[in-house]
Amino acid sequence: MNHGIEKRKFDCLVIGAGGAGLRAALQLAKADLHVAVVSKVFPTRSHTVAAQGGMNAALGNVTPDNWHWHMYDTVKGSDFLGDQDAIEYMCRAASRLVIELEHFGVPFTRLDNGRIYQRPFGGQSQNYGGDQAARTCAAADRTGHAILQSLYQQNLHARTHFFDEYFATDLLVSDDGVTQGAMVIDIATGEPLIIEAKTTLMATGGSARIFRTSTNAMINTGDGMAMVLRAGMPVQDMEFVQFHPTGVAGLGMLISEATRGEGGYLINKDGERFMKRYAPHALDLASRDVVSRAIATEIREGRGCGEKADHVLLQLHHLDSDIVKNRLPGIRDLSIRFAGVDPVDAPIPVFPTAHYTMGGIPTNRMGQVVAPLHHAPEEAQPGLYAIGECACVSVHGANRLGGNSLLDIVVFGRAAGNHIIEFLEDNRFHSPLNEDSIERAVNHIQRWDRKGEGESVASLTNEMRAQMEQYCGVFRTQDVLDEGVEKIRALFGRLDDVRLGDHSKVFNTARFEAFELENQLEVAMATMISAAARKESRGAHSRLDYPERNDKEWMKHTLYFNRDGGVLDYKPVRTQPLSVDSFPPVERVY
Ligand code: FUM
Repeated sequence: MNHGIEKRKFDCLVIGAGGAGLRAALQLAKADLHVAVVSKVFPTRSHTVAAQGGMNAALGNVTPDNWHWHMYDTVKGSDFLGDQDAIEYMCRAASRLVIELEHFGVPFTRLDNGRIYQRPFGGQSQNYGGDQAARTCAAADRTGHAILQSLYQQNLHARTHFFDEYFATDLLVSDDGVTQGAMVIDIATGEPLIIEAKTTLMATGGSARIFRTSTNAMINTGDGMAMVLRAGMPVQDMEFVQFHPTGVAGLGMLISEATRGEGGYLINKDGERFMKRYAPHALDLASRDVVSRAIATEIREGRGCGEKADHVLLQLHHLDSDIVKNRLPGIRDLSIRFAGVDPVDAPIPVFPTAHYTMGGIPTNRMGQVVAPLHHAPEEAQPGLYAIGECACVSVHGANRLGGNSLLDIVVFGRAAGNHIIEFLEDNRFHSPLNEDSIERAVNHIQRWDRKGEGESVASLTNEMRAQMEQYCGVFRTQDVLDEGVEKIRALFGRLDDVRLGDHSKVFNTARFEAFELENQLEVAMATMISAAARKESRGAHSRLDYPERNDKEWMKHTLYFNRDGGVLDYKPVRTQPLSVDSFPPVERVY
């Protein structure tokens, strides 16, 4: 029974219109495939727009560089949890894809010699851990904005079909595990629509909105990860959440690492450049997990600034004011607006803030979703792809380096597009839709039509965010994590009692916030349970009760399934690169 729901058929469905989704869609549309991009916001409002600092590639325009050094830094930055085949693939492709973006129209900042400007970013080195490298290609401090606009324009030119402001609720999957498209809802009318597709690509971004203080847009609610979990597949390495060291204190907006790349530094209440005690070589440009922990430690030990001693200061006013005005104009604006400080004159109050989801939907380097589901052991799930922050390929492992995210989205967007083109050569027809799958999706939508009194979406959302911050923050312990698991489980239990006050259909954003709450709770549960189980410190997962990395027992990826209240499994890290020697795990110092 199709409930009279309209159906549209495409070769490829892309869910999400950030940089990853748009780069993949472009590859597909240029191959003359019939591509639908579904996005819950107008594409140029996707979260890629907020990426500030830049995109890594070993162009060597400012310091000597090559992709081997970039690969080494990325493996080390990942605390040896990154898959080295995927990391090699990404770092080798980087330079070519930056030039490609330039040709798509991205207005990169220029050096005096006309080459693309590159700034130093955290965790970058020359010659395998030597001097600081400058590897991050930047368009001032609005690099994501520039990339997103250019990719959108290229897609319009290539005739990609956009479903703007449509919300995807569930994947449609055949009984034998072939993904056949998705159920989506037109936000403007509230009407459901079935999009049937031979391949479906998830590019829905991250989920750091599950934390109260976050650099993320309100839209980053883990929708794609939750859709995959509901379809019975796992998510991977969800315990690894990146806290960006420099969010505006108390509010969370991103103050780009570019500030430190341009020469800014952090000070505590005594005016001390404290990073010298935590990372004597790299100082303020150590890896993000290291800098975030250093800030949290300064505050815990009473060296925080302000009346409540609850933040540190990021100083830029020693720099030539033209550097701030020309290379960091967005940061200056944001700082004046939200922190009430002009960084040309005074330091910015900052504190670590949830920024990036290293985990996500497990994939291989072609973007195929892999899971031990219908075909054990782990195999590619036919017709289903995932890329960008919603995916875990895994190039970032336990800690992502700044500037590798914009790179990840274009590299794996293009790779997934290419693989889909090949896949469709052998899979030319739509398979008949699974009616049971449609029925489940309809029931899910109707769940929010229940009337009566109940809890509000907003109150549960706020509680969840506060609890994630309290129980799953920068420093973690078993007691606190176990309590956090129970807290989030209890919120899940209360979801059944939540009711909408407004049941109208036209542009009822409250209805979509309810879907987003369900999705966030799925992701929060995965994050808490995975974190409580990992008894070691690695990258962004820092356990006070297990302060050491334990490669013998824990150099493995976590898989989380949402069945039976949350089930974990593990799989090995891919330590073998494609063409070079493996980087074996060593102590990670900066
Ligand atoms: O600090 C930043 O500009 C953020 C960059 C990133 O997360 O890659």
